[in-house]
Amino acid sequence: MSIEQFLSRRAVGVKESGIRRIFNLAATLTDPIDFSIGQPDYDVPLPIKQAAIQAIQSGRNGYTLSQGLPELRAKILNRLEKFYPAPPGVLVTCGVSGGLVLALLATLNPGDEVLFADPYFVSYLNLVSWFDGISKPIITYPDFRLTAERVEPFLTPKSKILLLNSPNNPTGVVYPEEDIRRLCRLAEKHNLLIISDEIYCDLSYDHPSTSPIEFAPQRTLLLRGFGKSYGMTGWRMGYAAGPAPLINTLTNLQQYIFVCAPQPAQHAVVTAMETDISPQVEQYRQKRNIVVQELAGAYEFARPSGGFYFFIKVPQKYESATRFVEAAIEKKVLCVPGSAFSQQDTHFRISYALPDDRLREGCKRLRSLA
Ligand SMILES: Cc1ncc(COP(=O)(O)O)c(C=O)c1O
Repeated sequence: MSIEQFLSRRAVGVKESGIRRIFNLAATLTDPIDFSIGQPDYDVPLPIKQAAIQAIQSGRNGYTLSQGLPELRAKILNRLEKFYPAPPGVLVTCGVSGGLVLALLATLNPGDEVLFADPYFVSYLNLVSWFDGISKPIITYPDFRLTAERVEPFLTPKSKILLLNSPNNPTGVVYPEEDIRRLCRLAEKHNLLIISDEIYCDLSYDHPSTSPIEFAPQRTLLLRGFGKSYGMTGWRMGYAAGPAPLINTLTNLQQYIFVCAPQPAQHAVVTAMETDISPQVEQYRQKRNIVVQELAGAYEFARPSGGFYFFIKVPQKYESATRFVEAAIEKKVLCVPGSAFSQQDTHFRISYALPDDRLREGCKRLRSLA
């Protein structure tokens, strides 16, 4: 008997992500420069840790309401209120991943099309197909802007969702305000729902990132997270906000999937929302600048303004990004090939969430490969 016979077609179709493959390789190398990690290198600020410990020690360890702790939801509402004519619905989620699962489950019928930028975050293709949607990746090379002009030719009568991600993973590009405004206009014209994945919204270095809730709050489902901003990716915290009927539906679904976000982490995030992370943001702006300085001239890239990624063109002498990444591994440098995030394999992603000395050493090794 083979146990594989019991697996669903849906599950069998899932390949190990290109990033996970690099993680596994990293485990076999001693002391590599690891540019593959998608999380900040700073730790959770102490008051936030203390709030989690305090919650655990005082017995606040059970389920919460599915929608989340009232005091946390009130804080989130307070932050968003000014964008909405009437208070939006707010749901505390298990990371942005939890929000994405609920959002797509709540909205996709078989054959509905979801448009998003290529390169894209690794989960999008899988999630859309699990919920019977059709992914429409829109090529955004070489500047990685998702403009209304680029989206329009992909629209069909089945187009339902415009999935935005700015600041972007894997490119680090932050969409200009005017691009967002025009995308919102396009969504109005073609009756699209916007799902806005803003997990990196606190990490924008040249100008504040713009959200579609500023122009089209009535058709935007906002997804934000705490993991990347506060160095707590393992705590699995995020939120969804948007028109109340939509959020009520997500809340109903959450009851049966995640039940609620972890209670101690919810208490900690109340403190996180009062914690200033501008020193960390400044540090990351400096890291971005170091990489620009170190790699300009040797490589071609769209200068990133947010998150902690560069998406860099592979020099012509390499047949593909996968080949380049293999050559980099020989120099004990780990990067992720573009094929993990794209229909093409011409670029590689680095995350600069590393101590400055490691960052400089890694860039030196990358220069030697160019
Ligand atoms: C664009 C984007 N969306 C969502 C996620 C998932 O976030 P979370 O860890 O909060 O589930 C990530 C994580 O890397 C991401 O880069």
